[in-house]
Amino acid sequence: MQLSVSILVVSVLGLFLSCVFPSADRGVPWTLGGPQTESLKTSLIQMPPFTPEDIDGVRASFPALSGDYIFFNTAAGSQVLGSVADRVRDYLITPNLVNDGYKAAADFINASPDEIVFGSSATQLLYNLSHALSFSPEDEILLCPLDHESNIAPWLALAARQNLKVRWWHPQLPPEDQPGCVNPKLDLTNPPISPKTRLICLTHTTNILGTIHDIKSLSAKIRLLNPQTLLCVDGVAHAPHRRIDVKDLGVDFYVFSWYKLFGPRISQLYASPCARAQLQSMGHFFNPAESLDDKIGLAGGWCQELIYGILAVVKYLTPRWEGVVDQEERLQSVLLGLLAGLDGKITIYGEWCGDAKVRVPTVSFRVRGWKSKDFVEAIERETNGRVKVSWGTYYSVRLAKEVLGLGDDGVVRVSLAHYNTVEEIRLFYTALLKVLGLEGSGNGARESDWKI
Ligand SMILES: Cc1ncc(COP(=O)(O)O)c(C=O)c1O
Repeated sequence: MQLSVSILVVSVLGLFLSCVFPSADRGVPWTLGGPQTESLKTSLIQMPPFTPEDIDGVRASFPALSGDYIFFNTAAGSQVLGSVADRVRDYLITPNLVNDGYKAAADFINASPDEIVFGSSATQLLYNLSHALSFSPEDEILLCPLDHESNIAPWLALAARQNLKVRWWHPQLPPEDQPGCVNPKLDLTNPPISPKTRLICLTHTTNILGTIHDIKSLSAKIRLLNPQTLLCVDGVAHAPHRRIDVKDLGVDFYVFSWYKLFGPRISQLYASPCARAQLQSMGHFFNPAESLDDKIGLAGGWCQELIYGILAVVKYLTPRWEGVVDQEERLQSVLLGLLAGLDGKITIYGEWCGDAKVRVPTVSFRVRGWKSKDFVEAIERETNGRVKVSWGTYYSVRLAKEVLGLGDDGVVRVSLAHYNTVEEIRLFYTALLKVLGLEGSGNGARESDWKI
């Protein structure tokens, strides 16, 4: 019985996908197609289904999802697990609880407790870090315009204070990577570092493009080219989507924020023992200066109740990563396929392909003839405020303006999490067709194709 249900689900999914990903020989205006689309389709059909029971259980873990809203704005801050709220409350009202959240937070990224420090935001932690590092005049730091400003501004200020040279690692914009797709890329096999480069700062995943950078290969390359170079990675837009292992990645610094990761409003920075040894302590002279917290925690004693809440996120995510990635790959493939099928009306910024190896479900685009702001407002009106998408440049202003050539209006960003569903994408897409006046025009999938 279970097998036949699975076969049914897989076949109906196959039928659905063949409509969502129409092949060129059926003459459908599919601009982002080709052999990759075919292999993607095959791999999606073979994927074990994220069953209705799974998704129901997942959604039930998030109290905010029981309401009417469709949250397509995870990259700005995810919904929070009910179990996190329970633990925060428990800590506040129960005397003498041992705080097991600190160790769980370190374990979560394969670090030890003395290698991490908490702070109110990733931005604040990177500023603290930049004040504890000292380089020689004329040393170089390499920054990237694909990054959120939080991994740029502290380093520009450090360069100004210490008279360092700033160099920029510019991405390439392949001319017509795919029609309807603007996809800036870094050549990670060839980082432009010199014998004077002391620090490279790069995002793991960009918060607009959703592109994943292969940090593991990059760090290996850096060690070969100049072992003195430190690598500081911003994992804020990556952490909600993939398991992080800082030792495997080979990074010197890694920062992320639990409020994007289904948890409380607190952020975490890792430093490798070797990088930590290079930090001057910002602690009081009479206090120890060993751990990362001693050195740059500024005696903050960060909200213990929030740290206590982190264990709930760890417990929730640890057994689920595989399902999370599967579900996200399905969601992003469906959404990208639909957008690409809109006959040239949409420009996608980032990878057009839904492969989980290359991107996360943070999908940014512009609609021809529309300001991003107007389009988002029209979707809100059409759905009575139910669908939460957003527009803008998301503090990645250099990426939006210098790299993508956009103005303040930026992009429309649909940022999904594993708790979103194909049904929610259907509702968004139906609203989109109405807003663009394309209902019944034959664009994209028909209503009947959604029954999966
Ligand atoms: C990629 C990226 N880096 C850094 C940040 C800043 O994080 P925080 O709000 O914790 O300072 C954000 C916030 O959206 C982000 O998306």
